Amino acid sequence: MGIIKFTDYLSPNNIYHGDARILLRKMEPDSIALSIWSPPYFVGKAYEKDLTYGDWKSLLRETINLHYGLLKPGGFLAINIADILCFKDEAMPKIMAENVSRRKISLTREQILNVKEKHPDWNRYQLAKHFGCSEQTIHRRLSGNNIRGGKYQPQTRVLIIGGMIEEMALNTGLYPYDRRVWVKDAAWENSKWHTLSYRAVDEFEYVYIFWKPGVTKIDRSRLTKEEWINWGSRGVWEIPSVRSNADHDSKFPMELPRRAIKLLTEPDDIVLDCFIGSGTTAIAAISEGRRYIGIDKEEKSVSISKAAIDAYQKYAHAPQQMELMIEEIESTYEVKL
Ligand SMILES: C[S@@+](CC[C@H](N)C(=O)[O-])C[C@H]1O[C@@H](n2cnc3c(N)ncnc32)[C@H](O)[C@@H]1O
Repeated sequence: MGIIKFTDYLSPNNIYHGDARILLRKMEPDSIALSIWSPPYFVGKAYEKDLTYGDWKSLLRETINLHYGLLKPGGFLAINIADILCFKDEAMPKIMAENVSRRKISLTREQILNVKEKHPDWNRYQLAKHFGCSEQTIHRRLSGNNIRGGKYQPQTRVLIIGGMIEEMALNTGLYPYDRRVWVKDAAWENSKWHTLSYRAVDEFEYVYIFWKPGVTKIDRSRLTKEEWINWGSRGVWEIPSVRSNADHDSKFPMELPRRAIKLLTEPDDIVLDCFIGSGTTAIAAISEGRRYIGIDKEEKSVSISKAAIDAYQKYAHAPQQMELMIEEIESTYEVKL
């Protein structure tokens, strides 16, 4: 009677199915040395399709809030996230620079009006044929609406995430401790706008690291001298993107959580990922001799993670073949799931 049932807490070395906002309430207080995760990015993936922008911000805020209680004093929360490069903004003025490129003709409204004066009966299609361009181009020039996608489409801008995350963390008592930039593969094929603007392609993300006040053990021997030089002390981490992501389409490379785990935790510490996806963080934790807790709202992600962990443990006697093994695991589960 009146005894708190500690067994109700989520226990280490398990992957749980459920919403992070519910399951994080079942974590043992002050128990996690490092929580590292990559949330939905609000870029239209299947697992986030039901979220409005407001819902997405609430998911981030609530998840960050719940971390204050579950982190060990002196522990860390590391969030891998990217700015949204194509964020629709209704309030943005619908004005865009004229697109003058090698392949496009440079056509002004005045040129069209001059021809129209000589041929008042020509329609947009005849004018387009005359100028060797599309009828949409004629329409855009004549209506003074020089925007790709038409005047009814909202403009897109970059949504910068850092300040928002920082504010959410500070509001809950977590302090920005460090930030790293992960340079991944340049996504040329996904960067629809790169011939239509001066914007850069998508090729880096952030890892924001927040600290819960408390004693943090600083042990420089966690990394070798070479590791300190190559990445431990470096603000920029160059890690190739996951090429084979057949089992889950938004994985981070294992090297990313592995570095954070090695740098920020001790053997046997518990590492949490409440957006576990395909189990990457759990496997990185195991490979560094740490315990893990994983959470995901998709049943499929939970199955993939558990299967990947089982397979990893089976082959753990050959850590030098880790990457190769993970690729094998991914292709196996692409077939099975
Ligand atoms: C960007 S992916 C994480 C990928 C992971 N880092 C990996 O390497 O495989 C985000 C994951 O969060 C999960 N997710 C989305 N909303 C969630 C929620 N409210 N609670 C728990 N998991 C959620 C998705 O199902 C997806 O697997």
